Amino acid sequence: MNILGIETSCDETAAAIVADGQTILSSIVSSQVHIHRPYGGVVPELASRKHIENIVPVVRRAMDEAGITPERIDALAATRGPGLVGALLVGFSFAKAFAYALNRPLIGVNHLDGHLGSVLISESPPDFPFVSLLASGGHTAIYEVVSATESRLMGQTRDDAAGEAFDKVAKALGLGYPGGAVIEKVAGRGNPAAVSFTRPYLDKNGFDFSFSGIKTAVSRQIQLAGDRLEETIPDIAAGFQEAVADVLCHKLIHAAEVKGSRHIALVGGVAANSRVRQKLAEAASARGLSLHVPPLELCGDNAAMIAVAGFHRLSSGLGAALDTDVFSRVSGA
Ligand code: KG4
Ligand code: ZN
Repeated sequence: MNILGIETSCDETAAAIVADGQTILSSIVSSQVHIHRPYGGVVPELASRKHIENIVPVVRRAMDEAGITPERIDALAATRGPGLVGALLVGFSFAKAFAYALNRPLIGVNHLDGHLGSVLISESPPDFPFVSLLASGGHTAIYEVVSATESRLMGQTRDDAAGEAFDKVAKALGLGYPGGAVIEKVAGRGNPAAVSFTRPYLDKNGFDFSFSGIKTAVSRQIQLAGDRLEETIPDIAAGFQEAVADVLCHKLIHAAEVKGSRHIALVGGVAANSRVRQKLAEAASARGLSLHVPPLELCGDNAAMIAVAGFHRLSSGLGAALDTDVFSRVSGA
């Protein structure tokens, strides 16, 4: 079964063809990062307009690269939310029209289910139930993933998402936007012990997060560095990254212990961070846990994960969506 996945919840226009929820025949991601960079963040109106320009060429490329004509698409899956409503509307409305014209089912997919499902595209996927940490620019939450279509929230951030903290700290350090990859790069030259940050655990036994305080702590270090800021930036970046990695790692491992899960997963844009991956890999191996992290191209937003989540919903008899609409917040799901 070939599923065309479509994702336009934020600033990536993405389309993919996935066969049987397992084989990625094509996955196209058209990033708008260069458009939003001068503004230091995503400008919703610009994102919507760019999606309108991109959606047809991106879908066409996904079909061309997969070597598939529209008639060979068995179903469509598109992100309904959460995300920017104007951006979501472009992909979801396109998917509705295309599904209607092809007379194929359309499955509405929750973007977060897409990220959680990104570890299922693997030769050795995790056994259910497993615990998964979703850390991206918009969300940071731990779930118990019970099946390919059901997950239970265990805890989430009370303020900033982990990726958002990377972005804000990069901005404060004058490193540009988006911040995750650049902080990782600069941190590679720094000493993580030189500037130490308090780990924002909140309750060490709980699963909620808070990353807004660490941003303030970084601002204080910037002031303290004064004239020496330029040379101190790598140490601040490394210290910040280490603190975030420690918190993410501690909470995910603790969640596995509480649930008695032998399998854990890390998904979302922040899962691309090699220091976070390395820390988790060490902690998992010390406890005999099996860690699942998607390949880099499936960490950030993409449409292959949406097609996979759509495949599982369709296989479970869920989610025909021609008469549904997009939603901006998690509670609308
Ligand atoms: O999953 P994603 O592409 O979009 C959302 O759904 O939010 O995540 C984007 C976030 C951004 O905040 C970005 O700074 C962060 O993921 N990110 C990283 C890295 N690469 C991307 N954070 C830390 N280290 C990275 N290497
Ligand atoms: Zn995302």
